[in-house]
Amino acid sequence: MGSTQATAVQTTGRHYLSEVTETLVERSPNQQLLPLTATVNQKEHLEIGGCDVVELVQQFGSPLYILDEVTLRSACRQYRDAFARYYPGESQVLYASKAWNCLAVCAIVASEGLGIDIVSGGELYTALQAGVSPTKLYLHGNNKSYEELQLAVESGCTIVVDNWHELKTLAAIAGEMPTQHPKPDTQNPIRIMLRLTPGIECHTHDYIRTGSIDSKFGFGLDQLDAAFKFISQQSSLAFVGLHAHIGSQIFELEPHHDLGAVMVQWLSKAAQYGLPIQELDIGGGLGIRYTESDDPPSIEAWVKVVSESIAAACNAQNIPLPKLLSEPGRSLIGSACVTAYTVGGQKTIPGIRTYVTVDGGMSDNPRPITYQSVYRAVVANRMLAPLTETVAIAGKHCESGDIVIQEAALPTTQPGDLLVVMATGAYNYSMASNYNRIPRPAAVLVKEGDANIILQRETYQDLVRQDCLPERLNTSPA
Ligand code: LLP
Repeated sequence: MGSTQATAVQTTGRHYLSEVTETLVERSPNQQLLPLTATVNQKEHLEIGGCDVVELVQQFGSPLYILDEVTLRSACRQYRDAFARYYPGESQVLYASKAWNCLAVCAIVASEGLGIDIVSGGELYTALQAGVSPTKLYLHGNNKSYEELQLAVESGCTIVVDNWHELKTLAAIAGEMPTQHPKPDTQNPIRIMLRLTPGIECHTHDYIRTGSIDSKFGFGLDQLDAAFKFISQQSSLAFVGLHAHIGSQIFELEPHHDLGAVMVQWLSKAAQYGLPIQELDIGGGLGIRYTESDDPPSIEAWVKVVSESIAAACNAQNIPLPKLLSEPGRSLIGSACVTAYTVGGQKTIPGIRTYVTVDGGMSDNPRPITYQSVYRAVVANRMLAPLTETVAIAGKHCESGDIVIQEAALPTTQPGDLLVVMATGAYNYSMASNYNRIPRPAAVLVKEGDANIILQRETYQDLVRQDCLPERLNTSPA
């Protein structure tokens, strides 16, 4: 490694450390690499939520997701408080639980007054099990099954209708059209919103861009008039408003500003069909900091732009302010979590690179191989050691592309060191798999020195739990 690079790496290292020793609780979590409570203790170990990360791994094993409750709650409050400050009407933040859906996370965000955006029967079931009120659940999805719609209708959550097929299925469920399926039990009209594709471009990875015209999600603007007309004729469908989501990991504010204006225009169009103007859901998408060069706007800045844009557009169109819903996922939970791995062996290819292996990878964090996402890491058991090398962090899966970090600036590592990858709260556990039959890691929730398991580590028994071995195959090999 050249000396210039070494200096840059040192600077990067100091940057992380100065960040973690300041008091950060007031700062916007999505602008931090590490959770707000991160600090370095006297043993020079990383501490999160008052817990020594080295001790957490000794107690709960490796790899380990470590979720900081203070950071998650702080992000919830920042969204909530900012809407109260900047939006003159009513508002409701919904946590986009696809970022990380499990009982504990649903319970925490609900206790902060947030509702939850769910996209499947499984997410809905989990949120209900966590005790979240169905009145604060909004079901998304571009191909909801009949069973999912049935569960949503029976539990009384709001359904964000994505397309004509679904709209007609719901009309049938609501009792106005024939259906060959059993009808769910529903007394009230079914609360629906319509998802529209606003045709707004934003700069993010193609796979996580959803608002452009060529998207599988939502009604195109050219279909909305017909959809409004259809809904206005269905007395058992209660239209409550419009929804759009333009993409994820967005650093610009303009697309959301523009989205506000487009949506208000369509809300006022809906009113012309006699549909009420009640709710407007602007989606999520605010980006977070994964590396020191990422510079997302704060939660407050995002909320301000969204709120002002919608209030101004309503004013201009002379329509009442709708209840403003938003659906952040990544910016609520992304920086609240880190993943601790144990370092294994190394392979140095002279003149090319050194691979340092860890005991996880693409099965617990598929984002690098899926989106070429870049992460940063620290060595949790030697936080103050100088950064001396740049290495590739290789996962343990049988796939060359299973590289957690292409270029990680680290102190010299040894087998047994603890490598902590930062900002892994969003779309890591929720997208985890058992590729190579690797059990999913445990997750612990840390707060003020307490650590509680929120997801048990999977066992080998868990891995074969759903397997079936037909009787005729259940013989000893010849
Ligand atoms: N609302 C809807 C309808 C969404 O589709 C999404 C994300 C969100 C809200 C939350 O967006 P956020 O605030 O988290 O950006 N797996 C990808 C991200 C996919 C996002 C899918 N939809 C990743 O790992 O980057």
